[in-house]
Amino acid sequence: MKFDQPAGQNPIDQLKVVGKPTDRIDGKYKTTGTAPYAYERHDVVPNQAYGYVLGSSIAKGRIRAIDTAAAKAAPGVMGVVTTLEHPRLERGMMNAAYLFGGDEIQHYHQAVAVVVAETFEQARAAAFLVTVDYAPEAGKFDLAAEAKGAPPVPGDSSEGSGGDGEERVGDFEGAFAQAPVTLDERYTTADESHAMMEPHATIAAWDGDKVTLWTSNQMIGWGHGSLAKILGVPKENVRLDSPFVGGGFGGKLFVRADAVLAALAAKAFQRPVKVALTRPLIANNTTHRPATIQRVRIGATKDGTITAIAHESTSGNLPDGDPETAVSQTKLLYAGANRLTAMKLAHLDLPEGNAMRAPGEAPGLMVLEVAMDEMAEKLGIDPVEFRIRNDTQVDPQDPKRPFSHRDLVGCLKLGAETFGWSKRNARPGQVRDGQWLVGVGMAAAFRNNMVLKSGARVRLDGAGTVTVETDMTDIGTGSYTIIAQTAAEMMGVTLDKVAVRLGDSAFPVSSGSGGQFGGNSSTAGVYAACVKLREAVAQRLGINSDDAVFADGQVRAGNRAVPLGEAGSRGELTAEDTIEFGDLSKKQQQSTFGAHFVEVGVDADTAEIRVRRMLAVCAAGRILNPKSARSQVIGGMTMGTGSALMEELAVDTKRGFFANHDLAGYEVPVHADIPHQQVIFLDEVDPMSSPMKAKGVGELGICGVGAAVANAVYNATGIRVRDYPLTLDKFLDRMPEAA
Ligand code: MOS
Repeated sequence: MKFDQPAGQNPIDQLKVVGKPTDRIDGKYKTTGTAPYAYERHDVVPNQAYGYVLGSSIAKGRIRAIDTAAAKAAPGVMGVVTTLEHPRLERGMMNAAYLFGGDEIQHYHQAVAVVVAETFEQARAAAFLVTVDYAPEAGKFDLAAEAKGAPPVPGDSSEGSGGDGEERVGDFEGAFAQAPVTLDERYTTADESHAMMEPHATIAAWDGDKVTLWTSNQMIGWGHGSLAKILGVPKENVRLDSPFVGGGFGGKLFVRADAVLAALAAKAFQRPVKVALTRPLIANNTTHRPATIQRVRIGATKDGTITAIAHESTSGNLPDGDPETAVSQTKLLYAGANRLTAMKLAHLDLPEGNAMRAPGEAPGLMVLEVAMDEMAEKLGIDPVEFRIRNDTQVDPQDPKRPFSHRDLVGCLKLGAETFGWSKRNARPGQVRDGQWLVGVGMAAAFRNNMVLKSGARVRLDGAGTVTVETDMTDIGTGSYTIIAQTAAEMMGVTLDKVAVRLGDSAFPVSSGSGGQFGGNSSTAGVYAACVKLREAVAQRLGINSDDAVFADGQVRAGNRAVPLGEAGSRGELTAEDTIEFGDLSKKQQQSTFGAHFVEVGVDADTAEIRVRRMLAVCAAGRILNPKSARSQVIGGMTMGTGSALMEELAVDTKRGFFANHDLAGYEVPVHADIPHQQVIFLDEVDPMSSPMKAKGVGELGICGVGAAVANAVYNATGIRVRDYPLTLDKFLDRMPEAA
């Protein structure tokens, strides 16, 4: 189905199943431990051996030799596959660093060998008997030191943000110089680690020249093609299966060393091999969110109209890596005739920077929305009002392009009213509650809506059961549930009559999960397949498909009513289709909007920061399932709190690695850190986005919330720290005298 006209009235608009706050279908499996993750799939193939990955202990250089004799002689060991035995392997989708093969070391903990044994413990013990003779070389590991000469470069997050190295509209410098009120500040954000619950893991087994990988991956279509390329086998000989994923957050958009090494080891030892990346390897062997140094300049008239806005960001990466696209939202969020955005990239030899939890917008809004708060204060205008005053209904870089639907102002107004914003004391450091200095802050949320081609197959049997098959993944997001809701709505059945099968490369290729494109795109693909199935049903029942009404488990036409199952009773009916998006998303800008409001307390003596309450108001098209959407948004709000207050990979700038590479040293928010969270969705549809009239919502929650936390901390203390995360050491010696 080609989607190149705005959606008209269609069966989804009935909202009998879609739009209802439905429990996640996979919830009971997840909570009872019966939704196996890749490493736990003991039943898929017998005789699984264990691979343990050895990572490089230098950050840059070459390997002269690897001695595996002692490891091979250790108990239970079947063998060792080393990087020197393979030529440098091709890279897959979005891979900047090479995953295996050859003698060159590009970053710390790059995989140099996999040791395979009968048990995990035997493999791990033997791995420490492998000795590697390195020829280290000097590397660059310090972003601050390398930032100076960093050139502007184009870049793309693959998740809807990116652009040229420098983009300009009007005369920024001239307008900024003339503006009566200006702000020019520098901010820094930290390197961050994915820290997902389920580590990267794969079981691989060969059957002749065909290989199956039971793995943990967000994008089956990409992974399928990538593994065929990396392993040098035809695509039809590779199968990926990833029905349950314990979090991806961008770190599993692509193939990593676990999958490659499991496949190579399984081939080498003619036995199924399972490989999980240990927690320390996740920080340094896989990918992370790169640190940024950002500069924001805003010029405005005295009444708060922005006349000049510039946002520049510098990040580092390996030579073939992208810049962090931290300035993209600044092209679209606020009006202003004179504009400049730039992304600069420094060459660093740290592990690969790549997509993580709303890449671009999350660290970009962390900064832009603090700068907006600072500017509002300079202007003496309420920060909510300042944002409303600078709203735009068109793309500020190309005013002929309207937004398909934009209600940022609605989010700001409803948020302010619901949160009790009018009670805020604009003078910082004034509100006390016992030992706590109390403050409130807000920020706008913005994330682009991407649409990606997505396919599905639907089958109808004689019992009236509808089975959906697509290689779409459910990374904890609720895909199973919204796909079932879509099929139930389209076929006029209840949810218990729908079965959903996901994550298998044998199924039609979907959008996959990433960049908050999966929910809308994959359900639109299911919609397309169901339109075809409805036609097939009508044809088999001898009904004109235009007259057929699918409802209550029946197909009705005129005064005839037939149970849906009857169409499948003379052999299963199958329909398959792919939704393909035309250029609607080019003609109009599709984005999602929100407003975050946060209250914090800061301990007057210790500067410990505690979030006390949070509110997000989101405008993201039709919400397919308010319950799972809310879960996505509160997850994002939690992640944003992590960015603002605790998440930081500590860079060893001498040896070139992230030192706090485990969950003891890398802090993320836990339940005790997160208070009451409220989420409100504006009731809206966006017919430009898809037949579902939905948009992405999964990552909107993380965008801007960190700035709302930081602005609340400023309001509580009067101390503006521009170096995130806001750990208490940055406040202690500046705290107001304790009363
Ligand atoms: Mo992306 S960071 O996989 O949504």
